[in-house]
Amino acid sequence: MLRTVTLIPGDSVGAETASAMRRLVRAAGVDISWEEMPAGVDAYERLGSPMPAETIESVRRNGYAIKGRIMTPVGEGYESPNLTLRKALNLFAGVRPLRHFPGVPSRYQDVDVVVIRESTEDVYAGIEHRVYPGVIQGLRVTTRTACERIVRFAFEYARRNGRAKVTLVHKANILKMSDGLFLRVGHELSASYPDIAFDAIIADNACMQMVRNPTRFDVLVCQNLFGDLLSDLGAGLVGGIAAVWGSMRNDQGTVVFEAIHGIAPSLEGKGIANPMTFIMPALALLRELGEIDAARNISQAMGDCLLAGVSTPDFGGSETTESFVDAVIARLPKG
Ligand code: IPM
Ligand code: MN
Repeated sequence: MLRTVTLIPGDSVGAETASAMRRLVRAAGVDISWEEMPAGVDAYERLGSPMPAETIESVRRNGYAIKGRIMTPVGEGYESPNLTLRKALNLFAGVRPLRHFPGVPSRYQDVDVVVIRESTEDVYAGIEHRVYPGVIQGLRVTTRTACERIVRFAFEYARRNGRAKVTLVHKANILKMSDGLFLRVGHELSASYPDIAFDAIIADNACMQMVRNPTRFDVLVCQNLFGDLLSDLGAGLVGGIAAVWGSMRNDQGTVVFEAIHGIAPSLEGKGIANPMTFIMPALALLRELGEIDAARNISQAMGDCLLAGVSTPDFGGSETTESFVDAVIARLPKG
């Protein structure tokens, strides 16, 4: 059966890297009907919304989506299209594996940490107001329901994926009520998962430990902002944002695989952007769809390329987006 997956190329080099990814997936023998949908600056200018309703509907209908980087304006402007999508589909669980991929130039080789990030509340509730000229309040929202949902998700994830330990990241020494609640829920629910070890760590210390000794962590469960920060910090440890991917899930089985972060304006139109930003989430999509062999073959071929120094300039090589994909395809098993 031909599966339909929503493809959101997004801004900047999204279109070129998405099309390279499509070519690679096809060459690995997987047929997917990609429903390409608009989002980002171009969608805003043409359709009046950076995350159009029809794009959201397509994700809801197909249940599977893959998404490139979408620009979020700083300061004034529209709401982050990423947030619009998360809110519309209640994609509460962000999963961000921080694992070194063979051959990627990186500070650490043996890191294997998964950040589970609550993605609906905390400072991302976006509630800000001006109390008085020059005085702004921004509210941080924490509910027991969301804490329980994400902590349970983290334990279930650990169980399903053979992980030994969940570490909850908090700042309950300062945010005694909100992070105090999150921490309490962690301890409460851990009683139902005697097979998974549980501990907690204060967020700033977690950052230092991540840099000094990331191998001591297994699964980290975080509220929204700390999860955002730790997932980028961790990406930096294993080779940067081109080398990692994330997914967002809700309770209805919708999964959006994504390039985690950022755009690359300096690379636009040059044809040298690293297609791994799209290939990494595509590998996760293939595994989710049960295309285990194809995912393994692409990983193997791509790892062989990187180890042989065949890569785009950001990884020290001299390939273009397309010639890198050609090289990966050439290393796929024949037949
Ligand atoms: C991410 C990004 C988003 C976030 C932005 C673009 C809204 O940084 O997915 O990590 O902060 O969640
Ligand atoms: Mn981020």
